[in-house]
Amino acid sequence: MGRRSLADRRLLITGASSGIGRALALELAAHRTHLLLVARRAEPLEQLASEALSLGASSAQLLAGDVTDPQFRCEILQLCSQNWEGLDVLINNAGISAHGRFAENTEATLRRIMEVNFFAATELTRLALPLLRSGNDPIVVNCGSILGHRGLPRNCEYCASKFALRGWTESIRPELLREGIELLLVSPGSTDTEFFDHLISQTGKIPWDQSKKISAQQVAQQTVHAIRSRRREIFPNWRGRALVLLNRLCPRLVDRVLRRYG
Ligand SMILES: NC(=O)c1ccc[n+]([C@@H]2O[C@H](COP(=O)([O-])OP(=O)(O)OC[C@H]3O[C@@H](n4cnc5c(N)ncnc54)[C@H](OP(=O)(O)O)[C@@H]3O)[C@@H](O)[C@H]2O)c1
Repeated sequence: MGRRSLADRRLLITGASSGIGRALALELAAHRTHLLLVARRAEPLEQLASEALSLGASSAQLLAGDVTDPQFRCEILQLCSQNWEGLDVLINNAGISAHGRFAENTEATLRRIMEVNFFAATELTRLALPLLRSGNDPIVVNCGSILGHRGLPRNCEYCASKFALRGWTESIRPELLREGIELLLVSPGSTDTEFFDHLISQTGKIPWDQSKKISAQQVAQQTVHAIRSRRREIFPNWRGRALVLLNRLCPRLVDRVLRRYG
């Protein structure tokens, strides 16, 4: 199969109000796509929709709500099926995190992170399957993380959610491919977004250097390229990729280094 065309494709993006989701919407708008933008904050979504239209999007709609709410997830898919006869690209991007040691965090924090980062993505995909089956060259894009490949201390709830997302992505890939639906896992490293301002709990600080971030636009550009060229997984940040490789080759060395951050 050749490169995927994006012109006139119908896309649903969660977590579109800021950061990577917003950058993705703007990048995809230039391909004359039809966009449905989802997040809780309506105002930034409205602004994004008008920017997307001015950049060339064929249409841009928004729906504000919480993706962890099953009723809201149904509303998203109802709106998709009202507007479109199929869905071509589903981007599960909404995500949150918390910083601090496991012992100092709570069950509520762990459950909330799993709800947003894992269950919302799995259940939105389940609901979207009938529309994806009627899509044109359909693909599901899951926004994972380097921390879905290597767990780091003081961030365990987030790491667990991204490991779960990666495991689920790997497991369903053959099932979806059977139905002609491709799946891409995007595993960014540190990215310059509002992510770290939106932590739902901060009982301690992450002790390693977080200054070397790439831009959301870089992640978005690489993601769009990966969608078009039918990649199965990308690591937009080379530092993150280096950590994953080092961990594969010398896991004990990485364990030893990380012990000092416990
Ligand atoms: N930034 C990084 O360093 C980094 C690294 C690796 C992976 N990632 C992943 O990249 C993805 C995007 O994060 P980002 O860096 O772009 O951070 P961000 O700017 O904070 O964006 C997160 C998006 O998720 C939305 N969101 C959060 N909870 C939601 C909920 N319950 N319902 C609906 N939408 C919700 C937020 O919108 P509202 O607040 O308006 O709902 C926002 O649009 C996440 O999956 C994150 O795990 C980020």
